Amino acid sequence: MGKHFEVRPIDKALPYGVEIIGLRADDLANREVQARLRQHWARDGLLIFRGLEGERAHVDLSRVFGPLLVHPLHTDPTRKEIFSVRHDPEDPYIVEVDGTPLAAWLPWHSDLIYVDHINHGGILRPLVLPKSQGETGYIDKIATYEALPQRLKTRLEGLEAIYQFDRNPELQKFGRNGAVKVLHETKAAIASRSKTYPRVLHPLVYEQAETGRKVLNISPWFVLGIAGMAEAESDDLLQEITGYATDPRYAYWHRWQLGEMVLWDNWRMLHCAAGCAPDEIRWMERTTIAGDYGLGRLVGAEFVDAKIMNF
Ligand SMILES: [Fe+2]
Repeated sequence: MGKHFEVRPIDKALPYGVEIIGLRADDLANREVQARLRQHWARDGLLIFRGLEGERAHVDLSRVFGPLLVHPLHTDPTRKEIFSVRHDPEDPYIVEVDGTPLAAWLPWHSDLIYVDHINHGGILRPLVLPKSQGETGYIDKIATYEALPQRLKTRLEGLEAIYQFDRNPELQKFGRNGAVKVLHETKAAIASRSKTYPRVLHPLVYEQAETGRKVLNISPWFVLGIAGMAEAESDDLLQEITGYATDPRYAYWHRWQLGEMVLWDNWRMLHCAAGCAPDEIRWMERTTIAGDYGLGRLVGAEFVDAKIMNF
């Protein structure tokens, strides 16, 4: 039996992320291959698969890492594990970031941090790419934790952050990617703002189960405050730690090419979408790997509607 695949760091200067080269769809049923891939997922956080193509391989690869979620809005029963993330030129949701109009733009976040159960990750696969831009950014929250000064590590122990869903990125309080203004909105974005979502709590630090490494568990998008702390003190602390969490020295910007897929650990990696020109098409498909790290909890009303979102 051969090696099945090669592994290379995405960037020798970064303590996370590897490329997986030479893996074939036929190898995905091999248990030794599956075990090695899962080890890399826990250790490296971000896996870029080169040369593995097609929807079948996308779903089979995703299943190596756990059961898949079916998106509640999905209407195509033959593709129920695949969710399209698509921008077309006629789509109205456009934001202006530092003066530049962008489509398909999202701030730094962990998916579904605004609910109590956070999915374990996802795999993105590009179908149509814009001529330029459209990168996805990733930052490792284990590396970020390790970079914190000891005074902050000590201070964060036992604290919980408060999150609440609000689709409008103009209202983001901490760790903004730039000066943001929403130019045009979709009906879904407007409708989502007419509802009130319950608040949830997540610990600011937790240990990765497989390795015991600590994670700075913060999502700049959707975080409002720190439980039990006065607002001014909480704002100062969140300002400081989101500064560490979005430090560009720890960011990796993935420039997409057709014929590749990217897996990230949503419990550990922040991600964001750099956006593209509004008159371009950007069509990605994603799967979502189910799971729950078991540390989030609801505050107040029962969670109802936010599960239809996927960012
Ligand atoms: Fe996301």
